[in-house]
Amino acid sequence: MPRLRMIKGVPSLRLRPYLSSPPEPLKPSFRIFKTVPLLRNDRYEALVQRQVVGFVPTMGALHEGHLALIRQAARETDQVYVSIYVNPTQFGVNEDLSSYPQTWPTDYQKLATMEQELSRENTRGRIHAIFLPNTTTMYPGLPPSSEIEGDGSFVTITPLAKKLEGASRPVFFRGVATVVMKMLNIVQPEKIYFGQKDVQQTFVVKRMVRDFHLNTKVIVAPTVREDDGLAMSSRNVYLGARRRRVALVLLNALKAVQEVFARGARKRVYLHKAAMEVLTKVQKQQQALPASQRARFEIDYISIADTETLDELEEVASEHGAIVSGAIKMLPIEEPRPGEELGIGGDASAVRLIDNIRLDLLSAKLDFLT
Ligand code: PAF
Repeated sequence: MPRLRMIKGVPSLRLRPYLSSPPEPLKPSFRIFKTVPLLRNDRYEALVQRQVVGFVPTMGALHEGHLALIRQAARETDQVYVSIYVNPTQFGVNEDLSSYPQTWPTDYQKLATMEQELSRENTRGRIHAIFLPNTTTMYPGLPPSSEIEGDGSFVTITPLAKKLEGASRPVFFRGVATVVMKMLNIVQPEKIYFGQKDVQQTFVVKRMVRDFHLNTKVIVAPTVREDDGLAMSSRNVYLGARRRRVALVLLNALKAVQEVFARGARKRVYLHKAAMEVLTKVQKQQQALPASQRARFEIDYISIADTETLDELEEVASEHGAIVSGAIKMLPIEEPRPGEELGIGGDASAVRLIDNIRLDLLSAKLDFLT
């Protein structure tokens, strides 16, 4: 029961807690580090206390996919470190670095809410620290270059980084490997968490960890999807309703591969054809519509690759399965209609979408039946 108080001159007024003002929002207890030495001191304490550290690297614009990684890290480790840093070296010179969504106030709120959730659930670990460096901190030497021939201290993982995404975005995985190596050296986590959506990124990082004897375990968590199946991505905010609907074609193409695999197809030619049929059919349908109604896209690739090496397969062995991945580029909307629901930036720029599914007998059968 709240304690009753008499207010001078107003004897009958009884105050209840929070009657006049709402409760202050809980201040999260995680620490925010912008520089390396302070974070290192903190990390040293964790080491001394034998706390197991899990690390979730992000570029901000946090969505449910990131939060799922944080939740998993909190279940599996004692202290979760999250980084938010939009890494310039993984953007090519003509890519969307300047327009990449930067949403620190909402990211902060999401992390604070997540921390309350973790504390309610009494998970093993909590969000312990956010690392929020700037580019001078991350690249203390030369200004980072996004040119292929540019100078700098880079980590390159070839030929893995040249395939698939790397073929269209030649500096992308050099930038990812370089910044993740830096982050690993700074945070030194026992476990680092990535989403399956960026499957090639997970391969590049695992290869780097193995080849450079890095003392961390790479954990890959399932792709988190919107209700209709679209893989969550920070870039989805650029898709207005029209492009958003058509964007599902990529997942439908991957599912078509899963279906023919479940029916017994093993040769690349049939599996690949199943995906391309879905993509080209929708592509033609869209092309035939007037500019005020269509959402056009380009097909970059459909890959059917080995689960260990990401090498393209001519035939999928039933016992090994495969990773089927793809990329499409949603082109800008040519003629927005008055009142049409547009994405951030008015659907005026192309948006590259990627997705993948694991092809194996178990998941093929399960997905096929549902
Ligand atoms: O997946 C991402 O958000 C980025 O590629 C990463 C791993 C944070 C490196 O900048």
